[in-house]
Amino acid sequence: MRRGIALGLILILLLGLSGCAGKQEPAADNASIVVGFSQLGSESSWRIANTVSMEQAAKEAGFSLMMENANQKQEKQIDAIRSFIAYRVDVIVFSPIVETGWDNVLTEAKQAGIPVILMDRMIETQDDSLYTAYIGADFYAEGQRAGEYLVRKADALGAEHLRIAEIHGTTDSTPMRDRQKGFMDVISGDPRFTVIDSVDGDFLRSKGEECAQQLLKQHGTEGIDVIYSHNDSMMLGVLDVLDKKKIQPGKDILLITVDGEKDAVDALKAGRINCVVQCTPDLGPAVMDLVRDLTAGKELPKVNHPDEGAFSDFDNLNDPAVEGF
Ligand code: AHR
Repeated sequence: MRRGIALGLILILLLGLSGCAGKQEPAADNASIVVGFSQLGSESSWRIANTVSMEQAAKEAGFSLMMENANQKQEKQIDAIRSFIAYRVDVIVFSPIVETGWDNVLTEAKQAGIPVILMDRMIETQDDSLYTAYIGADFYAEGQRAGEYLVRKADALGAEHLRIAEIHGTTDSTPMRDRQKGFMDVISGDPRFTVIDSVDGDFLRSKGEECAQQLLKQHGTEGIDVIYSHNDSMMLGVLDVLDKKKIQPGKDILLITVDGEKDAVDALKAGRINCVVQCTPDLGPAVMDLVRDLTAGKELPKVNHPDEGAFSDFDNLNDPAVEGF
C-alpha cells in the first residue's frame, strides 16, 4: 500500500515537472521520420546559424536528422544524397552549392520515391519534378533592395557619378546570380552608376579581405565610391582592409552588404556600413513544417520565401527591431 502511494507521488511529480517545462512534446510518430540533410559547408556566419536552425528545429519537431556537411564540394553533396537514398530516408533536404549538375542524383532520389526539398538555394533543371519544394530567400529581391538603397543614397548626396566595385558570392550559386541581377536591374539604366569591377569572394571573409586588397590596388584608394558585397562575411573582411589603410568605411566608400549578421548590423549602427539587406538563416522551423506536411500527404507550395527587408542609414537605428542574428 505504502509502495503504491509512493509510486503515485512520483507519477504526479513527473507529470508536474513535464508541465512546468511548458514545451509540447514532439508527436511520438515523428521520431520514425528520418530527414537526410546535406549542408553545403560552413563558409559564413550565415551558414553556421542556418545549420543550428536546422538542428534545433528537427529536434523540436522530433524528427531524426542525418546531416552531412559537404565543405563546399559539390561531389560531397552528391555522395551525401546517394547515402541518404541508400539509407532510405523519408525526405531529403539540401542546399545546393551551385545551380547545375544535380539532375542525375535527383533522378535517382525520384526513382527511389524519396521527395526532395531544396533549402536556401535553387537548382537549374529542365525537370521541376526532381524537387518537391524550394524554401529560401528571394535573392533577386535582395539584390533589388541593395540597388534601391544606392539610388536613394545617390539622390540624397546629389552624386553625379558613383564607381561601384562588386564582391560577389560563389560563382554560379543562386544568391550570386540573383543578387547580381536584381542589383543591376535597378541601377543599370541610370547613368550615375558604373560597375568598374566584379570579383569572386566565394562568400568567405578571408576572400573578402583579399578582394578588397586587390580592388584597391587595381583602382587606387580614391578610385572606388561604393562596394557592394554579396554577404556580410566578405564585407567584414573589407572593413579590416579599409581600417588598415585608414580609409573611412561608410564615408570615403559607401558599403552595401547582405545577410544581417550581428557584426554587420553593429557596424551599420556605428556608421561603418551604410546598408544591410536582410537574408534570414533561420529556415529550420519552416523546413520542418514542410516535412511534416509532406509526410502527412499534403501538397506543398512549390516556392516558399520568408519575409525580409533591409536596414540602412536612412532608418532609425535605435529601433529595437534593428538587430542582427
Ligand atoms: O545562400 C545564402 C548565402 O550563403 C548567404 O548570404 C551567405 O552568407 C552564405 O554563405
